[in-house]
Amino acid sequence: VTKNPQQPEVNIGLVGHVDHGKTTLVQALSGSWTDQHSEEMKRGISIRLGYADATFRQIPGADAPECYTVEEETEDGEETDVLRTVSFVDAPGHETLMATMLSGAAIMDGAILLVSATEDVPQAQTAEHLMALDIIGIENIVIAQNKVDLVDRERALDNYEQIKEFVEGTVAEDAPIVPISAQQEVNLDLLIEAIEEEIPTPDRDETEDSRMFVARSFDINRPGTTWEGLSGGVIGGSVVAGKLDEGDELELRPGREVDEEGQTEWRSITTEVRSLQAGGNMVDEVRPGGLCGVGTGLDPSFTKGDALAGQVAGEPGTLPPTREQFTMDVELLDRVVGGEEDEGIDEISTGEPLMLTVGTATTVGAVTSARSGEAEVSLKRPVCAAEGAKIAINRRVGARWRLIGIGTLK
Ligand code: GTP
Repeated sequence: VTKNPQQPEVNIGLVGHVDHGKTTLVQALSGSWTDQHSEEMKRGISIRLGYADATFRQIPGADAPECYTVEEETEDGEETDVLRTVSFVDAPGHETLMATMLSGAAIMDGAILLVSATEDVPQAQTAEHLMALDIIGIENIVIAQNKVDLVDRERALDNYEQIKEFVEGTVAEDAPIVPISAQQEVNLDLLIEAIEEEIPTPDRDETEDSRMFVARSFDINRPGTTWEGLSGGVIGGSVVAGKLDEGDELELRPGREVDEEGQTEWRSITTEVRSLQAGGNMVDEVRPGGLCGVGTGLDPSFTKGDALAGQVAGEPGTLPPTREQFTMDVELLDRVVGGEEDEGIDEISTGEPLMLTVGTATTVGAVTSARSGEAEVSLKRPVCAAEGAKIAINRRVGARWRLIGIGTLK
């Protein structure tokens, strides 16, 4: 595993149908994949949200697009210049993991839609993932037409036309389509050029209040560790605003459930940042982009086994409210994701259970009141979310949860 020379500064979703080549492409660009990181904590986060870092470079004096590379040296041994380090967020191809895709999408700054040239367009998840990008409003998109080494010119052009037709009228309408072979490493320079142009690093304001979405949490102590040797609880996730510094005070919401005289109540937790990890290195500060691990002063029993996954962390006193119920504007999809063509979606009804994904939190709620275009829900587990937050709404259809719409918190 090569270490990256700098922290990743932008999150790029990698979406597309199963077997269209996501893993192969990330390997070609980063020389590693999420679940090969040696470090256990990072690995744990990666599996859940699927992250891998890659560093784009430029050969000094060379023309575009040939100048773009991921190699540290040219064949002649000349050193290349670092452009930037990016993080790829992998969207699992399985439809049951759509919620993870959506919670991952909450932290995507742009996306690559991978489409195999060997199959008709669109395959099921190609359509679902594009719909999700549309819903979440991810506009900076590059389409990679993969596996062009397996088809002849005519088939590649047909497939290109199919892609064009498929994205018409969607967020990806104007996205460049770059023919590549991830496996044969063909046209990766063109792909990097397109990413550099279409998915810029967003302007980040370091003075904004720090905000981190927690995706995992751990107890990193080995069983039997004595009290003096215990390390504090660790949380993993992504900083989405401001920055975190070693020594910062940190508040977590919703925090934990406390039981007092038979009454239960959620109370935020306050701790401090004791150590920071990003891009595979120990660092003093973390800015938005990629994944980070935060060593805290918390009792590791609080963080064990993902107990804090889905929570929001930030400077004390600045976090959005904890909500045990909320009202949301609802926009239903035209049809069930992954369902049959003719499977329409019924209005949400009072009393029905819904699975809601808000940021990195997934929670089940019961609908307490439903009107057309609006629903009020009461949650089993509260969430910390600001007004305007996007919510993925899933309904139980048969044996599984299916995405039926998108909510906006009121
Ligand atoms: P999931 O993780 O299961 O969603 O699949 P994926 O999208 O990550 O696909 P993966 O990278 O595992 O590729 C699927 C298969 O296609 C593998 O056998 C790859 O070797 C092969 N493959 C990927 N890209 C190319 C390519 O550009 N050309 C050729 N010939 N094969 C490719």
